[in-house]
Amino acid sequence: MHRGIFITLEGVEGCGKTTQMSLLAKYLKNKGFNVLVTREPGGTKIGDEIRKILLNPDSKEMDYRTETLLYTASRAQHVSEVIAPSLEEGKVVLCDRYIDSTLAYQGFGRGLSLNKLIDVSRWATCDINPHLTILLFFPTEDGLKRATSKEADRIEQEDIEFHRRVQDGFLKLARLYSERYQIVDAAGSQEEVHERIIKVLEEFL
Ligand SMILES: Nc1ncnc2c1ncn2[C@@H]1O[C@H](COP(=O)(O)OP(=O)(O)O)[C@@H](O)[C@H]1O
Ligand SMILES: [Mg+2]
Repeated sequence: MHRGIFITLEGVEGCGKTTQMSLLAKYLKNKGFNVLVTREPGGTKIGDEIRKILLNPDSKEMDYRTETLLYTASRAQHVSEVIAPSLEEGKVVLCDRYIDSTLAYQGFGRGLSLNKLIDVSRWATCDINPHLTILLFFPTEDGLKRATSKEADRIEQEDIEFHRRVQDGFLKLARLYSERYQIVDAAGSQEEVHERIIKVLEEFL
């Protein structure tokens, strides 16, 4: 039995997940919640090692199945080591990307079977699903420009069509899982987006 609240942030590259995650964490901590902020891939020592392989632009020959299994392996470790224990302690767990990113990137982006991805994800996470998923909606090209202003990782280096399929995929997932999804317009200043997220959260809590 998990007593905590599990919230995930999803969206295309550069839509503002990491920025909004830290603003949201601050807000919830001020409200007195015990908050844990984490991200994928990574979130554990083993996961961070896997993250390096996944995002390394030199990993060019990586098969899509290998890619899927590495993301999923990182997630399995993340759930068992961090997410499940934190939820059991009653924390609010804020996670930057989760299963939906695998469905959007490896499913809609790479073209792998969604049902297979769902099966392997459910197995890897012992069926621990978010109570609330906030999809930050931001124009694909603008986000990519923001994200790659310094240096593009292996996934960011994919062509714009790939990133468009990912964006469409997230919107489809939001309809498929409408009971836990909230789409938030991520255009505007960081403060404006934060206010929109707070509104969604106040209704949810
Ligand atoms: N509302 C915003 N307006 C302008 N720049 C932003 C906004 N939100 C985030 N950024 C900037 O855009 C870049 C990508 O944001 P980030 O939060 O890292 O996105 P993500 O984690 O979704 O890839 C960062 O340099 C960040 O400072
Ligand atoms: Mg980020």
